[in-house]
Amino acid sequence: MDMLDCIMSRRSIRKYHEGASIPQGDIEKILTAASAAPSAANQQPWHFIVIDDRALLTQLAKENPHGKMVADASLAIAISYDKNEKKPYPTLIIDDLSAAAENILLAAHGLGYGAVWLAIYHDEAKVESTLRILKLTANVVVHSIISIGVPNESRTARTYLKKEMVHKNGW
Ligand SMILES: Cc1cc2nc3c(=O)[nH]c(=O)nc-3n(C[C@H](O)[C@H](O)[C@H](O)COP(=O)(O)O)c2cc1C
Repeated sequence: MDMLDCIMSRRSIRKYHEGASIPQGDIEKILTAASAAPSAANQQPWHFIVIDDRALLTQLAKENPHGKMVADASLAIAISYDKNEKKPYPTLIIDDLSAAAENILLAAHGLGYGAVWLAIYHDEAKVESTLRILKLTANVVVHSIISIGVPNESRTARTYLKKEMVHKNGW
């Protein structure tokens, strides 16, 4: 799949073949793609928590009203950072992690898997339940959880550009 096709045909996939596993080699590729994301001053603030324990996936799904699909996912990646790690641009860490999240979505799609981005850090209830379920200490901030599985749905590529969103040399 060429790069542009991969970007255009990537869609959020929320239905998976239950219990299908993803080979370690592909998980490595997805994590390597994540860490190839740009970051402010190359500060690379990310930590990737790979969750493939069925009981944890089920609990995360149960306690996230917008994350039910995780119950059937092959794995989930909790993109996180450690507040105790001193970084040159702490206010840009969320941007860095968002870039890594998109790389994970594209790499998963490019490898034939389905994935969806679940935001966590903005919602106190999701932050609380995720830290508790994953037994994480308060210095860890979970930015998002990416649910990944073998797709059991296909969705049409979005290949349109809304002209009103494009401005030339000013607003
Ligand atoms: C920051 C962010 C948070 C999102 N949170 C959720 C979520 O909690 N649950 C969910 O099912 N989808 C979530 N999504 C996926 C969006 O619903 C999806 O990207 C959007 O509807 C566009 O569809 P597409 O990804 O198929 O192009 C999120 C996407 C982003 C970028």
